[in-house]
Amino acid sequence: MRIYKATDYHDMSRKAANIISAQIIMKSNCVLGLATGSTPIGIYQQLIDWYKKGDLNFDKVKTVNLDEYKGLSADNKQSYHYFMKQNLFEHINIKMDNTYLPNGMEEDSEVECTRFNNIIDLLGGIDLQLLGLGLNGHIGFNEPSEFYEKGTHCVALTQSTIDANSPLFGDGEVIPKSAYTMGIKSIMLAKKILLVVNGKNKADILKEALTGPITPMVPASILQIHNDLTIVADEEALSKIDDSLIVNG
Ligand code: GLP
Repeated sequence: MRIYKATDYHDMSRKAANIISAQIIMKSNCVLGLATGSTPIGIYQQLIDWYKKGDLNFDKVKTVNLDEYKGLSADNKQSYHYFMKQNLFEHINIKMDNTYLPNGMEEDSEVECTRFNNIIDLLGGIDLQLLGLGLNGHIGFNEPSEFYEKGTHCVALTQSTIDANSPLFGDGEVIPKSAYTMGIKSIMLAKKILLVVNGKNKADILKEALTGPITPMVPASILQIHNDLTIVADEEALSKIDDSLIVNG
C-alpha cells in the first residue's frame, strides 16, 4: 500500500483526481468505480475543471458506482443517482449509457443484486475503484459484520451510518434504512484501489483500517491485502499514522 499525505481537503482532492485522470489518460475506455459522500466531491470538481480545460475526455469512460439507497428513485435528490449527476456526470462528456448504479427502486433484492453483479462482469471488472471510508470502517455500504459479503447485496444500515448521513436529508425526508452495495469481492477484484479520507473524526478508524487486524468488523481492513492500494488522506486523518509509513511523510 502507498499512503500519501495531503495538506488539506483541496490538496487531497487534487492528488486523488490526479490518479484518476492518469487512469483515464492511459486507458481512455477504462472502467472507473465511483463513490459518493462528502469526501469525493472535491475530486469530482477537480476532474470537471480539467475536463473544461480540455485536458480530460470521458467519451469512452465507463463508470460503476458502489451503492444506492433502497427505495429511492434516480430523480430523488437524496439518491446516489442524483448525486452523481449533480456532482459529476452533468458536467462532463460521459455517455449516460456508460454509467451504472444499483437500482434503488427494484424491490426484489435477488433480482437487483444479480443484475448489478452481471454488469460488473460484463464490463470486464473495474480498473480503478475510488473509495471513501465510513466512520465505522465501512466501504461502499459494507457495514461491520461477522463475515464479508462477496457480491452485491442488500444491507441494513447501522445506526452510526444513518446518523452520519442524516444531515444530508432535509426535514420530513425519510432516511432509508437499507441500501444496495457492491460486495467486498467485487471491490477487491478492482485492479487498483484509491481510498480517500479526510478529517480528524476519521483518524482512529483510518489507523484501525490500515494497521489493525484484518476483520469484517472493520470492513476497510481487507484493503491491506490488495496489491495495488493507494491512500490519499489529509494531515488530520493521518494524524495517528506513523510518518515512516507515508510516502511523502
Ligand atoms: C457513505 C457511503 C460511502 C462513503 C461513506 C463516507 O455512507 N455509502 O460510499 O464512502 O459513507 O461518507 P463521507 O465521505 O461523507 O464521510
